[in-house]
Amino acid sequence: MKLPVYGAPDGNAELRAYAALAAESYAGDRDAFERRLSAFRDGGIRVLRRGSRCVAGALHFDFAQYFGGKAVPARGLAAVAVAPHLRGGGLAREFLHSWLKEACDDGVALAPLYPAAQRLYRSLGWELAGTRVTYQFRPADLPARHGKVRPATDDDEALIRDLHARSRSVANGPLKRCPELWQRLRASAPDLPAFAYIAEDGGYVLYALRREPPGVRFRIEVRELVALNRPALHALLALLAGQRSVCSSIQMVLAPFDPALPAIQPDHICPVHERLEWMLRVVNLSQAVQGRGWPHGMSAKVAFTLEDVMLPANAGAWTLQLARGRASLKRGGRGGPRLEPGGLAALYSSRSTPAELRALGLLSGPESQDAALAAVFAGPAPWMPDFF
Ligand SMILES: CC(C)(COP(=O)(O)OP(=O)(O)OC[C@H]1O[C@@H](n2cnc3c(N)ncnc32)[C@H](O)[C@@H]1OP(=O)(O)O)[C@@H](O)C(=O)NCCC(=O)NCCS
Repeated sequence: MKLPVYGAPDGNAELRAYAALAAESYAGDRDAFERRLSAFRDGGIRVLRRGSRCVAGALHFDFAQYFGGKAVPARGLAAVAVAPHLRGGGLAREFLHSWLKEACDDGVALAPLYPAAQRLYRSLGWELAGTRVTYQFRPADLPARHGKVRPATDDDEALIRDLHARSRSVANGPLKRCPELWQRLRASAPDLPAFAYIAEDGGYVLYALRREPPGVRFRIEVRELVALNRPALHALLALLAGQRSVCSSIQMVLAPFDPALPAIQPDHICPVHERLEWMLRVVNLSQAVQGRGWPHGMSAKVAFTLEDVMLPANAGAWTLQLARGRASLKRGGRGGPRLEPGGLAALYSSRSTPAELRALGLLSGPESQDAALAAVFAGPAPWMPDFF
């Protein structure tokens, strides 16, 4: 039977073909990639075929992403790869268009990704939507007032999940993780031992130690630090500071205006190690509107026309109405501006204001509703601690 051009891998041979393609595309180890893919057997891999050959593929994670205080169903795209000798011929665009249509049919609201090729994703309606900034600082710069901290045990898993949800759900962009991403966060290896500690006042830290030979010194890679209050934050920072005799530096992803920043920053310079940008695609407009939270108690009415060539189900004139913080979205409405899908994504995540979108060419037409659009989509600066 002839297989469709796009779909899930048909058995182990195609799975291995995609693993080989991804390993070559990312200079990775093929066997390691195959082992990693075994976690995705329940459907998170897609391939594109030419005849009987697998020529492109990607994997995805089904999770949720917090916006406005609610977890919105999202599908994160990763490890997009096209056979090197076939690049430049439109295969990635074809693959991504099929992937988007499938996600839309599946009722997925949002699709975040980390772009290695922004132009490619932008041409399909993704736009920059938030950041992931890793800071690097000296343990000696941390406050060292010790607090109530204990090693985490297996019994703390529910506590960790609860603290995570309470801390991240009030931000825009962080994930409500799927099991694969939780597993990856907690993974330990002989060359990368990982540890977890609980702050009794409400917080936890997960970190790994990376040796920096020669000598005995190491770097602390904080995988996650969650603190619901100041005593918990300072207790966890003091735990890290306590390693300063043998630890040369600490790397940690923080929110744009993270409460930890004043404690780790010795002066006006923010010691940034890496700043990544992630992109977002609104895949299913009505799911995205229904799924997220909105400014508390706000009432507003805005009309706009969405130009979505790739996903026509989203295209056309819409009216978004908020009544005391509850949203409804209806077809139709006059006098509103025109939004590109990328403009919608950057607005939705609270990354860009209508004025910035006009400068980017992602919003055009009448300006009369710009102030209402800005108010409706206003929120904390979007960020995402996870990399996938
Ligand atoms: C990036 C990649 C997926 C593109 O695949 P492709 O089939 O060559 O892409 P297409 O031919 O469909 O190109 C579509 C658009 O993507 C952009 N693009 C393609 N390759 C690109 C690259 N290497 N860098 C930046 N942009 C690129 C171009 O804007 C192109 O449109 P244009 O030709 O009208 O300018 C492929 O080069 C690849 O597998 N690279 C290695 C892995 C990787 O970087 N994956 C992306 C991770 S997010």
